[in-house]
This record gives sequence, structure tokens and C-alpha cells, in this order.
Amino acid sequence: MSVLTLENVAKKIGSRLIVENLEMTVEPGEVYGFLGPNGAGKTTTIRMIVGLAKPTRGSIKVMGHDVQHDRRAALASIGTIVENPETYKYLTGRENLVHYARLAGLDAGRRNQRIDEVVDFVGLTGRIDEKVKRYSLGMRQRLGVGQALLAKPKLLVLDEPTNGLDPSGMREFRELMRRLADDGMSVFVSSHLLGEIQMMCDRVAILKGGRIIAEERVADLIENASGGVRIAVQDTEAAMSALAAQSISAHSDSAAGSAIRVMVKRDEVPNVIRQLVAADVDIYGVEQGRDSLEDMFLQLTDDGAASAVAAGEESRNG
Ligand SMILES: Nc1ncnc2c1ncn2[C@@H]1O[C@H](COP(=O)(O)OP(=O)(O)OP(=O)(O)O)[C@@H](O)[C@H]1O
Ligand SMILES: [Mg+2]
Repeated sequence: MSVLTLENVAKKIGSRLIVENLEMTVEPGEVYGFLGPNGAGKTTTIRMIVGLAKPTRGSIKVMGHDVQHDRRAALASIGTIVENPETYKYLTGRENLVHYARLAGLDAGRRNQRIDEVVDFVGLTGRIDEKVKRYSLGMRQRLGVGQALLAKPKLLVLDEPTNGLDPSGMREFRELMRRLADDGMSVFVSSHLLGEIQMMCDRVAILKGGRIIAEERVADLIENASGGVRIAVQDTEAAMSALAAQSISAHSDSAAGSAIRVMVKRDEVPNVIRQLVAADVDIYGVEQGRDSLEDMFLQLTDDGAASAVAAGEESRNG
């Protein structure tokens, strides 16, 4: 059974349609990325998944339970850090966890053992009896995850959890998510950073302007993205218009001689070449494109200039 299912979900606020036609499924043991530029609708979607906002249309199910109609059962399987992790800074990490374990209804007999387990899991064992105000942002974030794990949820839902973390904090966080997934939990995590999602997730949905424009395994995304080709031709204008006539988009790439760049999947390359030959375009060479995952994300989201800069920085750091 899928851990999370969204079917035709839409959210309207006032007269504005914020997200629409959302279709996603998250399977057991997978880290699922929800990638999109600022304002795409990630937080709006996550608020609906964790029961903080009501979908205008469609259904959201967690472990088969509808978040609207079977709320208690659905939410019992979700662990989340909503907005900023709510921690009491003047209490120790452990005191915070005790507080949340009580709220989560863990019985007193099991509470301490479960707290020790999550503390160990998120790597805070040596520091858990210090006051939270002395924690770094990364430690606070991990404490938040620990809190979300107390009731052994099937699905962890996190909205841009790596925002503000430095590269080593990001790496620790990624490793933590991977270990959770290896343990059989599913993670639904949003980000506007392509590099983050690429390193952390098994699958990704790309959201743009409130719609999912792609949902793929990250490995396929990378393979397909690197399937873009650079084709050396004499007459780039003729080549591009021949392809445009077939609705294949291409752009001029004259970094080293005259050529076009065509962002297609590998299995579409032969057709591109056939179209060029049919249009009498002389081909001087065909090369596999590189650096193209970022190109592809940009092309998909189009207006994602800021995200691309951030993704580039992160991949250099990581
Ligand atoms: N309560 C609201 N009333 C009106 N518009 C809203 C409301 N909440 C969100 N929006 C709008 O919906 C769109 C999506 O917002 P949302 O916060 O879901 O995006 P996001 O993908 O989380 O962006 P970011 O990366 O900046 O966090 C934005 O244009 C936002 O202005
Ligand atoms: Mg947001």
C-alpha cells in the first residue's frame, strides 16, 4: 500500500487557484522530493497533507486513511515539523522530547526508552541534556526530527528542512533521511534546491505555478537530462526551424563552433537526427550534452533563475 496518495488535489484561496491537479504517491521506504521555485505551492500542499489546511478538491490519503474524513487515523501515521520547529529554548533537548512524548500520548513506561532511541538516531546523544538555546541550527533541526519520530510515524513530512543549514549540516541531514528510509520509513521533503533533492531523494515531483510538471525517479531524471545532445551544423537557423516544425525545442549553442543544443531524452535522439536530415540540414557531429540536469530544471521551471543559482552553489559545496 502507498504511504501517501494525492488524487486530483486543488487548493483555492479566495478566488486564486494556488495548486491544482496534484497527483502523487509515496511508497514505503522512499525519500520523495517535492521540488519547486519560491511561490510554486509547496508549503500550501504540505499544509494540506498534514491536516492544517483543507483541500478545495481531491483527496489525500495516508496509509489508506483520508486526511479529511478519517483525520485521526491519517495523522497518526505522520510525523512532521510544522513551519519552524517549536522548541523551548530554556529547556534541555531531553526535556523538550519528554514534553512532546507526553503530548503524543506515549505511555510513561516506554517514554524514556523511546526518547533514548530517537536521540541516538538523530545523533544528539552527547548533547541532549544541554539547553536548546546552546544548540546550533543543525542540532535544533535534528531535535525537531527526533520529536517528529517519537510516535514511530510511517511518513515524515518536512518543508524545506535544510534551509539555513551549512554544507556539513546539510550533509548530516541528508544522511539522517537516508537512514530513516533504510529503516522503512517514508520521507516527503520539499526544497527549492535541485542539488539537495538530487542527493537526498529517490523520486521527485517538480512543481511549477501550482502544477506538477514532472514526477520521476531521480536516477531517470539524471539519465534523461544527460540525454540532451549538441549537434554541430552549419546553418543553426535552418536546423532550429526544422525541429520547431516538429515541436522539438532547440537552442543555439555556439560555444565552440556553430551548433544547436537539443534537450531530448536519449531515445528521442534518432528522430531528431532524422528530422534534420529530412530537412536537408548538414550534420557535422553529435555529442552527448553535459551539465544538463540543471539546464533541465531551468527549462522545466523556466523562471527559476534564483533556484538554479542556489542549486549550483550547493552542488559545488556538496
Ligand atoms: N493564505 C494565503 N492567501 C493568499 N495567497 C496565499 C496564501 N498562502 C499562500 N498563498 C500564495 O500561494 C502561492 C504559493 O505559496 P506557497 O507558500 O505554497 O509556495 P512555496 O512553494 O512554499 O514557496 P516558498 O519556496 O517561497 O516557500 C504564493 O503565490 C502565495 O503568495
Ligand atoms: Mg514554502
